[in-house]
Amino acid sequence: PVPPLVDSFGRRHNYLRISLTERCNLRCQYCMPAEGVPLSARGALLSRAELVRLARVFVAAGVDKVRLTGGEPTLRSDLADVVRELREQAGVRSVALTTNGLVLTRRLPALQRAGLAALNVSLDSLRADRYERMARRPGLARVLAGVDLALQLGYSPVKINVVLMKGFNDDEICDFVEYTRERDVEVRFIEFMPFSGNKWDDSKLVPYRAALKAAAAQHALEPAPPRPNDTATVWRVPGYRGSVGFISSMTQHFCSSCNRLRLTADGNLKVCLFGASEVSLRDSARGGASDAQLLALVRAALRNKRARHAGMENLARMENRPMILIGG
Ligand code: GTP
Ligand code: 5AD
Ligand code: SF4
Repeated sequence: PVPPLVDSFGRRHNYLRISLTERCNLRCQYCMPAEGVPLSARGALLSRAELVRLARVFVAAGVDKVRLTGGEPTLRSDLADVVRELREQAGVRSVALTTNGLVLTRRLPALQRAGLAALNVSLDSLRADRYERMARRPGLARVLAGVDLALQLGYSPVKINVVLMKGFNDDEICDFVEYTRERDVEVRFIEFMPFSGNKWDDSKLVPYRAALKAAAAQHALEPAPPRPNDTATVWRVPGYRGSVGFISSMTQHFCSSCNRLRLTADGNLKVCLFGASEVSLRDSARGGASDAQLLALVRAALRNKRARHAGMENLARMENRPMILIGG
């Protein structure tokens, strides 16, 4: 048997996030600059066969959860095939998707038939005008319809990602809590994180504690049992169907339970969301590397994974890709 992907701090990595495309049909402020970002040449991106092969190398070493991200992963016309081919790999317990939800009403039934197990949807405002300002494109009604369809199709819970930005959508915290009353959703308030081109500064950050306080002002929240490796700390309002989580990457990082690895659309391995450290698995694979050689590259990169990210003061100055080219 192949030994698991353990780093120098004893963290076992069983969760692979694969970015499927650099393109997106929205232009969210926190994710990319208004003018967009330079995209890789088509041939630089992993083909389906390449990414499925690379995933198999990770799965052989104990990865059992794969999340598909982007850009916007539904822009990949072969998304359902990607889901099916990953799903069919022995050892894969869950293939999940993080999406902006714009095309779910059209695409989700086929994705479900292909074996999509879980769905996280980005939704930063429940007000159409604000949604459009945040995303620089309209779309709220379509996303809400997509979430409703996902619930009808039995996704349980549907996770809703809300990036909080001070003075912009933090007055909607209680509206989002109310959204969990009748729906089997887990709304997750996310601290705004710095990436290249997103004009981060800490005055725009809504810290976990402040968001929790705002929610608790109008709702009797109680803590939900923690789940291992969860990015979110979850609370619920007694009697409500859904729950409310907080992803506190900046003020209370959760690096000590990190189980995540990332593969970018152009085939680079990132052992941490932050920092410029990357290894091209694509180049090695195209150069004829065997599965064992690829796995050795992964293990070598993992040996250099830091205990935690660089801290709030340093992250903003650190070199990294724009979020659109990482996938979260
Ligand atoms: P689940 O698999 O449902 O737990 O989802 P997830 O939280 O792992 O993934 P999702 O794509 O929904 O990401 C939600 C938020 O968590 C995004 O803002 C991500 O950037 C952030 N996030 C995901 N993984 C990490 C991580 O390893 N470190 C940090 N700091 N943030 C992360
Ligand atoms: N800070 C925090 N979360 C972000 N996301 C995208 N950009 C940022 C950022 N700068 C989130 C989106 C998406 C998830 C993959 O990452 O909400 O749902
Ligand atoms: Fe893992 Fe890096 Fe995220 Fe920390 S910041 S949880 S080490 S990916």
